[in-house]
Amino acid sequence: MAGSDEVSNKQVILKHYVTGFPKDSDMSVVTKTMKLKVPEGSKDTVLLKNLYLSCDPYMRGRMSKLDRPYFVTSFEPGSPLNGYGVAKVLDSTHPNYKKGDLAWGYTGWEEYSLIASPLLLIKIEHTDVPLSYYTGILGMPGITAYVGFHEVCSPKKGESVFVSAASGAVGQLVGQLAKLAGCYVVGSAGSKEKVDLLKKKFGFDEAFNYKEEPDLDAALKRYFPEGIDIYFENVGGKMLDAVLLNMKLRGRIAMCGMISQYNLEQPEGVHNLMQVVGKRIRMEGFIASDNYDLYPKLLELVLPAIKQGKIVYVEDMVEGLEKAPAALVGLFTGQNVGKQVVVVARE
Ligand SMILES: NC(=O)c1ccc[n+]([C@@H]2O[C@H](COP(=O)([O-])OP(=O)(O)OC[C@H]3O[C@@H](n4cnc5c(N)ncnc54)[C@H](OP(=O)(O)O)[C@@H]3O)[C@@H](O)[C@H]2O)c1
Repeated sequence: MAGSDEVSNKQVILKHYVTGFPKDSDMSVVTKTMKLKVPEGSKDTVLLKNLYLSCDPYMRGRMSKLDRPYFVTSFEPGSPLNGYGVAKVLDSTHPNYKKGDLAWGYTGWEEYSLIASPLLLIKIEHTDVPLSYYTGILGMPGITAYVGFHEVCSPKKGESVFVSAASGAVGQLVGQLAKLAGCYVVGSAGSKEKVDLLKKKFGFDEAFNYKEEPDLDAALKRYFPEGIDIYFENVGGKMLDAVLLNMKLRGRIAMCGMISQYNLEQPEGVHNLMQVVGKRIRMEGFIASDNYDLYPKLLELVLPAIKQGKIVYVEDMVEGLEKAPAALVGLFTGQNVGKQVVVVARE
């Protein structure tokens, strides 16, 4: 029972390390108590009330016991998950944040988080857009789309662009950035509903359901008879192999992620890599968190476009931490339609 100056704090805990496909039963929701005050004497510490939490595919890697250096570390079984979120500052001894500030960055999968020396916490200055957008188009997935498309691929007007997992948090923005840059854009996704979204809401020129294409090479030839200049890679596996066969000379591939491989104990491997040599293709990996210095550029491009209706963003919201485990796991079966967000509190 919470004392008079304590509140209850629901948390999503990882029960154990995961192999293969994650299940919502790999996590549990527990209730702890905490004081809504930064403890006396704590320096550079913020107490956050979490509003929106972001479900991201990279979190699957953190559910495994990682035994070699990777760009993330493993979650700790028995402790709350952590990741990107939007939060309100309730108390602070950090010089950069004060009570009432809104911020996005790393936080815990819980109602309230006490964070000493935050690793990444960016103050939200623009509140005339939905706050949840800072888990998506105005947060980490937004930077990912911007950096992968504009910085890694240097698109030119009239070029042909292919995006996989195109209706998701990153893909839907990549497609719209490509249209704004004057490119021809095709996306793939895993259901008719998602394919309709790509064509009717996000303005992709064409889209197809990869689950209904027995021959991905033939599907890509249908949409790109002259080849692909830019591939924004989100899925890996058979799709990457088919794309390599359809790339143009000096094509560029932004290696953003390979979600089809995240739950396999043995990765499938890539069979058509020799295409990279013959066609002088440039494949470049990148990580959003190396590029936060470019955040002002994302805001400059995307904020006015959102307000003018030139860029739209679709979110898939679940309400309450109890639903967070199933929402996270759902990314790996394509359950989410748009950016998957968990609403913890609406301010
Ligand atoms: N490099 C970076 O810094 C960075 C940052 C953010 C994200 N990423 C990567 O970007 C990719 C997209 O992330 P997101 O946040 O935008 O996720 P998302 O697309 O919103 O959600 C994941 C989607 O992936 C698709 N998917 C799941 N399993 C699949 C499979 N076996 N084969 C093909 N598609 C599958 C599903 O859509 P369908 O219904 O279409 O199958 C699912 O809805 C991921 O690979 C992620 O790891 C990288």
